[in-house]
Amino acid sequence: MAQASQAARDESAFTDAAGRDEHIAPAPRVSVQAFCETVETAAAIQGASEDRRMAKAHMRIQMGGLTAAVEAYQSAPTPNVIILESDERGEEIIAGLDQLANYCDAGTRVIIVGCMNDVMLYRELVRRGVSDYLISPIGTLQVVRAVCGLFSAPDAKPVGRIVAVVGAKGGVGASTIAHNIAFSLARDQMLDSVVTDLDLAFGTAGLDFNQDPPQGIAEAVFSPDRIDTAFVDRLLAKCTDHLSLLAAPATLDRVYDFGADAFDSIYDSLRATVPCVVLDVPHQWTGWSKQTLIGADEILIVAAPDLANLRNTKNLYDLLKAARPNDHLPRYCLNQVGVPKRPEIKAADFAKALEDEPVATIPFEPQLFGAAANNGQMIAEISAGHRTAETFRQLAQLLTGRVETKKPRSGLLAPLMDKLLRRQT
Ligand SMILES: Nc1ncnc2c1ncn2[C@@H]1O[C@H](COP(=O)(O)OP(=O)(O)O)[C@@H](O)[C@H]1O
Ligand SMILES: [Mg+2]
Repeated sequence: MAQASQAARDESAFTDAAGRDEHIAPAPRVSVQAFCETVETAAAIQGASEDRRMAKAHMRIQMGGLTAAVEAYQSAPTPNVIILESDERGEEIIAGLDQLANYCDAGTRVIIVGCMNDVMLYRELVRRGVSDYLISPIGTLQVVRAVCGLFSAPDAKPVGRIVAVVGAKGGVGASTIAHNIAFSLARDQMLDSVVTDLDLAFGTAGLDFNQDPPQGIAEAVFSPDRIDTAFVDRLLAKCTDHLSLLAAPATLDRVYDFGADAFDSIYDSLRATVPCVVLDVPHQWTGWSKQTLIGADEILIVAAPDLANLRNTKNLYDLLKAARPNDHLPRYCLNQVGVPKRPEIKAADFAKALEDEPVATIPFEPQLFGAAANNGQMIAEISAGHRTAETFRQLAQLLTGRVETKKPRSGLLAPLMDKLLRRQT
């Protein structure tokens, strides 16, 4: 087992802490109907229907297995996907399927959940066009993977990972950290990355990367019918070899009120072509900002060490944990720590309240950060060997689940990083 998961980790660019492949592309707007025999299977599928990656799919779960399905579809059209549980032997499953085939639309895909670990049966099912065979007992994530897997072509490029960075309060340095992490992804990991500035009115990504592109995210979000990968691609401004920017207009001639799913198709387009998308999420609580955080593959909350930040981080943690039961926890880091004469809440108190350690503690360094901001440069460009630059490198690694091959130079985060990378979901 240990060997297998190590192999999976080596093979895949992105694995989560348990070494499990996290490349599950969200399912499109499809209808899924499940006919279960056991409550355990029904519960696993129910769990899957509540997973963020299945948010667009319409799921219906009922009992009765194959027999109920045959009966149901005699008079009703079949959905995009049927999940059938059967505790019968191979011949009975095949016979039931043959009966079902009379009523099944050609485009309907079938996933079977059975209790037999039988290669011959599996082959026979595949020959009859069954898309997947899961052996019970099944887990929630297995169902998510199976359904989502039906709609992401096997030869498609690996789907991009979305990393959302948000501040627990305004001005805590969330944007600065998002940009520096993206810069490290591109430069140190040579991973094609896009910084998406979601603060349309006041975003600073353009300033921070010394770019003033004529187009950006506004063109996409205000013309939803034109959005596809080619269109979004044209809106990107190139910052470095591997880093591009989807810039905010940062103008006030329009107002920016959006519906909850206004950005979804932009994320889908980016995901399809870019391995890593860093979202600079402004500190606000709207339908779309909530949906953006819940839908992200990784979440980093940036907090300054005061009481309001602690309360807000705790609230975000609780909400995101509840909304993402099949994902690992969000992560948080402390920033602007050690402002002279300022009383601060300690990292240990954050850890206690959140029941989780910060993934980094970044000191308040007005000279370094001020110079970077005013020059339109990243911290690593101002001072490559600085320990804060190293912290950004390590954060970038952590958020992409990449296990470092060379030893980190500073021991600052190393024990914690090890622990986090091993952390079970
Ligand atoms: N660790 C730090 N030390 C000193 N200044 C910082 C630090 N982190 C961020 N800043 C500064 O704080 C200001 C706000 O940062 P910004 O990234 O725009 O915050 P947010 O996106 O959370 O509103 C910027 O001027 C930035 O340069
Ligand atoms: Mg910001």
